[in-house]
Order: sequence, then structure tokens, then C-alpha cells
Amino acid sequence: MRIAVFGLGYVGLSTGIVFATKGNQVIGVDIDEERVKKINQGILPFYEPKLNDYLLNVLKRGNFYATSNYEDAVRNTEIGYICVPTPTDNEGNVNLIYLNQAIRRILNLIVGGNKYYTIVIKSTMPPSTMSIIRKIIEGEYGLKIGDDVGLAHVPEFLRTGTTLSDLEAPSRVVIGVEDEKTRELLYKFYKSLYGDKNVPIILTNFVNAEFIKYTSNAFLSTKISFINEIARLAEKLEGADVKVIAKGIGLDPRIGEKFLGAGLGFGGSCLPKDLRGFVKTFENYGEKSYVLAAAYKVNEEQPLRGVKMLKELVGELKGKKIAILGASFKPNTDDIREAVSIEIINELIREGANVFVYDPKALDNLKKVFGEKINYCGNLEEVLRGAHGAIVVTEWEEIRRLKPEKFKELMTQPNLVDGRRIYDPEEFMEKGIRFRAIGLGPR
Ligand code: UGA
Repeated sequence: MRIAVFGLGYVGLSTGIVFATKGNQVIGVDIDEERVKKINQGILPFYEPKLNDYLLNVLKRGNFYATSNYEDAVRNTEIGYICVPTPTDNEGNVNLIYLNQAIRRILNLIVGGNKYYTIVIKSTMPPSTMSIIRKIIEGEYGLKIGDDVGLAHVPEFLRTGTTLSDLEAPSRVVIGVEDEKTRELLYKFYKSLYGDKNVPIILTNFVNAEFIKYTSNAFLSTKISFINEIARLAEKLEGADVKVIAKGIGLDPRIGEKFLGAGLGFGGSCLPKDLRGFVKTFENYGEKSYVLAAAYKVNEEQPLRGVKMLKELVGELKGKKIAILGASFKPNTDDIREAVSIEIINELIREGANVFVYDPKALDNLKKVFGEKINYCGNLEEVLRGAHGAIVVTEWEEIRRLKPEKFKELMTQPNLVDGRRIYDPEEFMEKGIRFRAIGLGPR
């Protein structure tokens, strides 16, 4: 297939590279010329394990290139995936301006010509957005869906840090489609991609596809906030441990063990924004979301609970060296969008602490936010040396591997908050670490 991908952010670029890897001819399109240039030179604009090698490979084989030229892309392909961002403001209003622009750019190239083109939207949108897009296509442009243009919504479920395996074998493919021609085209395409792996394909209408994406992220968010709420009570009761509780409930297949990791809360470019957007969508339709709004609230409060624990261990934070272990919103990425580290660092600055941060990949991005206000360390020894307190914010493998002896040897006072529950409390306490952790009751 000859495919264009509009929007070379995380989802678009990863999707385009994987389509090309599977033998399709792919053109990646982005309005950011600098980004396009770098991609064509084989430089990935973000960190994602192994993806850079894949990019180099498809560039070398000649079945992928990037451009800023929409016309070139539409002329030379028959299907266009729109993967532009749909950011959400603090009130949950979803900004559809980039989506609107991308669709109109493509429609302007199709209208009046005799080219049939299929538009597939991957960007996450509030339920009912597709019906607005349908109105633009049919009402404003006078194009008939199924005759002049194909239209579908195929939401993306890939996770940062494991993008390649998620794209190689997704848990499911959801295709929101309302015309026969596009239904057939996409069903065949996804069968050719994943048929041998028995990946379930759900064919449904536009609104259900939109709902499935938002509901999926909302459920994951709620699961995390649910266990974080349980963690709060566990912290009060002698001997309680949320990790043991999560394991005990997670073995019930109706509940499941995944996404019950209590910690400092969820961040990233998806879960918080989609949850806000969903809560707002309820409001827009005159409904009130109790569960989702509560999940959001729990998550807003969660990072500062880590700072409170630090204060309980260290005392007054003013002038103290505090070590932040990990800053990206999750391991194996340099992404710090809505990362809990940002709120934690802001609070520590307000408290007058001397903040030192180590992260294997995210420091360059963090510098853009905090500049000279904090100190950036090249390794774990440097961040821990002489610290009065440390907090685990992101569970990178090398942070997981740290032994209690290392904290004792390097820190001025071995005060440690395990914000991601990666250490064995008994082991750390036995070795003389003053230890607090999310969801861990007094010992
Ligand atoms: C999330 C979804 O998991 C993907 O399915 C979806 O495609 C994506 O959003 C999206 O909409 O694009 P992602 O944001 O990459 O993926 O990362 P997650 O693995 O979901 O983690 C999000 C946050 O939840 C992280 O901050 C992580 O630390 C936190 N988390 C995760 C917990 O606090 N506890 C857990 O048990 C799991």
C-alpha cells in the first residue's frame, strides 16, 4: 500500500516506520521542517527503544521518507493516516485545531480532482467528533463518503517505551467505519498486517471507536487511582502493604494484576489529558462523571504525597540536598509531558530545597522546563552523594537495581521515599535506611 502519515509525533512516526518495515511505501508528513529534515537524516526526534534502528532501515530501503509537502504526499498515496495532536486544556476542552487543519489541507487537494482518497484518523478525539468531520466533508466540501473519499477512525493503543512490540502485535485493532469500501479496504489491510497473529479486529461505527479509545484510557487511569486511594489507607495501618493487597486482588481474573501499581500517580501525554477530556465531554452532554472526576482528583494529589513523606523523614527541606531519581513520566522514554516529576520538583523548589535530578534520558527535556533552578546529574552516584533525602519518581532499571548499601554509603542521611514501590521495605529498613513508600503502613 502507498500510505501517508500526517503528523510525525510519537504515534505518527512510529506507525509510519512500522508500516514501512512491513513493506508498504510510506510518506511521513509534518509541518515542522526541522523535524522533517532530522527524520530524513535518520535522527528520531524522541527516544524510544530500537525505533531509531527501524527508521534507519526503512530510509535505507527507500520505503519511507518525510516531507512538509501535503500535495506530494496526497498525490503519491491512496490512504492518509492523520496523527496530529489533540491537546486538552486544564478545563478539559479538547483543541481540535490541528486536526481540523490537517483534514482541510487534505480535502482541499482532493476536491475538484478525480482522485479517490481514504482518510484514517488516529488522533484521539472526544466521542462525536467524527460526526462533525463527516459534516465538514459532506456539507462544506460536497464530497460523498464512500464515493469520493473514504473515512475511518482507527484509534491507537500503543504505549510509550514498548511502541514496537505494541505495533507488531496489538491487543486489538478497532476500526470505526461507516462506508462499505473503506471497511473492506481497512479490514484487508489489517488482516495482511496481523492476520497471522490472530489479533482481534473490531469493526464498528465512528462513535463506538471514539468511545473505545477514551474509555480504555479512562479505565486504565481509574485502575491506577483506585489502587492509589487504597494505598492512602494502607499507609495509616500498621503492617499494611498495598503491593501485597494489589497482588491478592489482581489474581482474580475479573480484576487482573496489571495497572495496579500504586505510586506517585500517572502522567504522560495521554492518560491525564484524555481523562480531562472525557470528564468535560460528560459535562458537555449534561451528565456528571463521578468516577472519572474522582480518578482525576486522586491523581492530582498523588505526587505531593511523596513530598510530604520526604518532609516527614528529612524535616525542614530548606537548604537540603534532595535527590530525584528518575524524571520521565515512565521508564524507557525521554518524555516528560505531564510527568509527576515536574510537580514534585516545583514543590521542592517552593520549599527551598536544593534539587538534584538524575534521569538516563529525560534531562535535556527537563532543562527546558527548569533551566538553572535545579541541578542535573550525570549518574546515580552524583545525585545521591551528600543528599539529605531521595525520592524514586521513575522506575528505570538502573534505579531498581540500587542496593541499600549504596544509599547509605553516598547520602549524608539515608532518607528514602520509594514513590514507585520498587524496593523491598524490609531489606532497606534492616540495612538502616529511613524508608517510606506509597501504600506502606508503619513498620
Ligand atoms: C497510555 C495507554 O496505556 C496506551 O494504551 C495508550 O495508547 C496511550 O496512553 C495513548 O493514549 O496514546 P502511555 O501514556 O504510553 O500509554 O503509558 P502507560 O504505560 O499507560 O503509563 C501512563 C502512566 O501511568 C505512567 O506515568 C505510569 O507511571 C503510570 N502507571 C502505570 C502507574 O502509576 N501504575 C501502573 O500500574 C501503571
